[in-house]
Amino acid sequence: MTNSIRKILVTSALPYANGQIHLGHLLEYIQTDIWVRFQRHRGNQCFFVCADDAHGTPIMLKAEEEGISPQDLIDRVQIEHTRDFDNFLVSFDNYYSTHSPENRHFSELIYNRLNAKGHINRRTITQLYDPEKHMFLPDRFVKSTCPTCQSDDQYGDNCEVCGSTYSPTDLIDPKSAISGATPEERESEQLFFKLGDFREFLEEWLDQGHTQKEIANKQKELFKEELFEWDISRNAPYWGFEIPGEKNKYFYVWMDAPIGYLASFQNLCEREGLDFNEFMNKDSECELYHFIGKDIARFHTLFWPAQLHGADFRTPNGVWAHGFLTVNGQKMSKSRGTFIMAQTYMNHLNPEYLRYYFAAKLDNSIEDLDLSLEDFQARVNSDLVGKLVNIASRCAGFITKVFDGKLGNQLADETMYEQFVTTGETIAHSYENRRFSKAMRDIIALADQANQYIDASKPWVLVKDDKTRPQVLDICTQGLNLFRLLMIYLKPVLPVTAENAENFLNIDPLCWEDISTPLLDHSINRFKPLLTRIEEKQLQAMIEETKETADANPKPESGPLIEDPISGEINIDDFFKVDLRVAKILEAGHVEGADKLLQFTLDIGGETRNIFSGIKSAYDPETLVGRLTVMVANLAPRKMKFGISEGMILCAGSGDKEIYLLEPDSGAKPGMRIT
Ligand code: 2FM
Ligand code: ZN
Repeated sequence: MTNSIRKILVTSALPYANGQIHLGHLLEYIQTDIWVRFQRHRGNQCFFVCADDAHGTPIMLKAEEEGISPQDLIDRVQIEHTRDFDNFLVSFDNYYSTHSPENRHFSELIYNRLNAKGHINRRTITQLYDPEKHMFLPDRFVKSTCPTCQSDDQYGDNCEVCGSTYSPTDLIDPKSAISGATPEERESEQLFFKLGDFREFLEEWLDQGHTQKEIANKQKELFKEELFEWDISRNAPYWGFEIPGEKNKYFYVWMDAPIGYLASFQNLCEREGLDFNEFMNKDSECELYHFIGKDIARFHTLFWPAQLHGADFRTPNGVWAHGFLTVNGQKMSKSRGTFIMAQTYMNHLNPEYLRYYFAAKLDNSIEDLDLSLEDFQARVNSDLVGKLVNIASRCAGFITKVFDGKLGNQLADETMYEQFVTTGETIAHSYENRRFSKAMRDIIALADQANQYIDASKPWVLVKDDKTRPQVLDICTQGLNLFRLLMIYLKPVLPVTAENAENFLNIDPLCWEDISTPLLDHSINRFKPLLTRIEEKQLQAMIEETKETADANPKPESGPLIEDPISGEINIDDFFKVDLRVAKILEAGHVEGADKLLQFTLDIGGETRNIFSGIKSAYDPETLVGRLTVMVANLAPRKMKFGISEGMILCAGSGDKEIYLLEPDSGAKPGMRIT
């Protein structure tokens, strides 16, 4: 353990103020909270701040839809979010809002500093405009047919069916998701943050291990872009802060969202008399960490360090990304009853079970994490109830009934106690490096050892004989001291159980240092069960309630965890409805004005088809002429911006640059059916 007290500021990503907290969110807040509690437990000064992300078009529109003001909406949601975080024992020092005076102050300050140093550029760009609603449309509020797979009703920036991403100019028959009107292209001047000015700084920062390697490498791909700029402004009407010195221009929500970390901390500093500058000045010796989901890494590992650096603030020591949560091996789904809200979980289960399960599966990687409900039940019942709590319940009764509730003045096996203490350093190391699953494995291995010790010592036999009865005191004193050590190690994960254990052991709140002194010659309280088993019916009831809420409100939540629209089985008859044919590419060419589309004339055995396909990023059309491929021949013809598409060419890959045309083996002829 280090002797000097570290001063640490930690954040979790700010949830949007227009939706409820679900288990996917909680993965991050619980991960961060365990790390924060661990730091405090070790004696460090660790502040944990967060806030609601209260700006942007979706919040403005949601308030409008509900017939209330944005302020009323964000006030209501803040109450709900705070309730959920309290329930899951997330120990924020401050939970604030990005719609706050402090955030306005820091947003203006950072912008003005960047502007004064020439890091802001102005350019006129073309965007889609809703002529009925009189507003520019963010990508999320444009619906169109996907230019790649031609699925209907896809967002204006990506397709949820085939996963391809595209720009608004490629859209096929776009419609405003707000009014249903066909958007117009309109020009307006916008403000850009010149990230190119920070290329060297960012490359160095990414190379210094401040984020995971995969994340760093992914961001570096962007350095190849010629115009490395980020649009930070939005036109009115917009819900946010007006940009100083501009008319009807607002900061884009992602500009002021991370600044909300500073605002929340500043608000805490004012309340608690802390020194903001000590933590945030350029030469600060305090530590700063952001915990985030991997989907928002770009904002936190490029834009944010550049914003801070450019405005003369310190940059983060660590931006730690985690993967997404799946439930039972699949994306969370309302129809399967696995899109579980924090509040629904609370109606059925103890929040510490989830904290433990997440800890048992989390490490410092960006891999997705699966909550398998069967495994969740088995692990909690076995590790926490069957192993951990069992140690205390096996020993406590003898101390209370036979020894007047008082622990002995010596341990039966000091060497074993010392070994448990030594393992504590390994456990601490794992916590520090966010390798919680390793920490949990080591702790449960110690619990196994403690139970084996009690099994082998057989106090229930020794207690029957007057001569051996005194040994029972030493054995149970040993057992309860081992239990106490395990509770110290688990306290960051199970703060309430640790508190209940402190009450049972009749001691002050435990801290990590307490491991070096065993509890001897000390009166304890009567033991009450600390945790109970998860029953199958509790899980079922939670799933049922989730399904019922989904039926009442069938719209999927926004965010990366929405239900997978292409999952689910089809039967053989469904499959046979798709007419797949070998097609020969007779002509292939560019489409004027389209960034992604190519136009094809295909021969499917005596019949030709005109097809548009979004594979321009992967192929030079000339190289495709004469090749065979596979197409869906009975797809209803679709009217697109550039003409009618009469089918679909099949490709493998996730889209964009990863596109591989399917080609049959030699010998196949145009028109052959794929069976
Ligand atoms: O993705 C999101 O949910 C954002 N509201 C996260 C913002 S984190 C920070 F930058 F404010
Ligand atoms: Zn698509």
